[in-house]
Amino acid sequence: MLADSGGCGTANIPFFRPFIGEEEEEAVLRVLRSGWLTTAGEALAFEREFAERLSRAKPLAAAAVSSATGGLHLALEALDLQAGDVALIPTYTFASTAETAIHTGAEAAFIDCAEDSFLLDTEALERTARRLSEGKTAYEAGGPSGRPRVVIPVHFGGLCCDMKAVNETARRYGMAVVEDAAHAFPAYSETGEPAGALGDAGVFSFYATKTITTGEGGMVVSRDNDLIKRVALLRCHGIDRPVWNRYTGPAASWYYEVVQAGYKYNLPDILAAIGRVQLRRADDLLKKRKRIAARYDAAFSASPFFSIPPSTAGDARHLYPLRLNPPLAAVRGDCVKKLQEWGIGVSVHFIPLHTMPYYRKRYGTGYGGFPRAEDAYSRVISLPIWPGMTDSQVERVIASVFKLI
Ligand SMILES: Cc1ncc(COP(=O)(O)O)c(C=O)c1O
Repeated sequence: MLADSGGCGTANIPFFRPFIGEEEEEAVLRVLRSGWLTTAGEALAFEREFAERLSRAKPLAAAAVSSATGGLHLALEALDLQAGDVALIPTYTFASTAETAIHTGAEAAFIDCAEDSFLLDTEALERTARRLSEGKTAYEAGGPSGRPRVVIPVHFGGLCCDMKAVNETARRYGMAVVEDAAHAFPAYSETGEPAGALGDAGVFSFYATKTITTGEGGMVVSRDNDLIKRVALLRCHGIDRPVWNRYTGPAASWYYEVVQAGYKYNLPDILAAIGRVQLRRADDLLKKRKRIAARYDAAFSASPFFSIPPSTAGDARHLYPLRLNPPLAAVRGDCVKKLQEWGIGVSVHFIPLHTMPYYRKRYGTGYGGFPRAEDAYSRVISLPIWPGMTDSQVERVIASVFKLI
């Protein structure tokens, strides 16, 4: 098992190491030897198996894509987001969540975190939606204006947002809901429903550091079959027949028609084959991450220097965002540097989008606008949490964090 060779002792502990084994290697070889490398049977099977897993009581359709970024873009295009529309987005997220809305011609209005949470504040969501629907700017201090058309809740770190509240606000203001579930496979709501299947569409990431991986990749899911059909059309240049159908279907033909200006966001079979194996591993990988998180929780909850991340039973535990309390919080940057010097790979999730130069210029936002997100960002350090970590590696991370004191 490649992933188990991470080592311990004084060797570096990476921030993440994917759990890739012989089954994934064999799956890739099978595709390489088949002579068909791009999107075809493996991608279709991956879509079907992923959809089945999330379907539960209500059936759901899925479209495999080249990344969650591409998937978000396609879902928003399929919902016909356009100039004059506003997408409501947590500021505490990665660039993709907002940039994909901007690419459709819409604007992005940022929402702060809830109290003691990395997730979006549903009361602020309601306030911002109301302001926009009254023709005002998103915030008292300014920001974008336009028709509130979509909300994109982010299940940060694998923790499912309060989707009941999000969906209620969305319904009240006529907004669609596209869940950014990049971190959330498999994650569940408080009522045990799968994250990503709770809005109009959900988008998952299979980037190298995600809970299951294809290296790069993503999946769009929806209970609306027509929406998935539009996503599938846009994913391949807006061509009415997918390439494998043209070359291998019963009416094999050189003829095709472009019915819409689309994109090139398909997932090749080489990657889909890895995804199918990872999908089968998902529950085992989750169990391993949960075990590490439980050990971290036990160690850090006993100390006044740290705040452990909020969690629920359905948390996918994609990240372990530990918050430093005063006085350590004031020297977070130095703490990151020290941990790296000691061979512990750490990261920071996220730098709030409203502080980024592009959005500061576009919307006049900046520090002071979203205090809870800014506070979380200023104190957070994401610790390594990957399935192949050995007990001694976990203990070394804990000892190193305590050494910061
Ligand atoms: C919250 C969030 N959304 C979307 C993405 C984009 O995922 P991808 O790299 O698959 O495009 C990421 C990537 O890290 C993310 O963290």
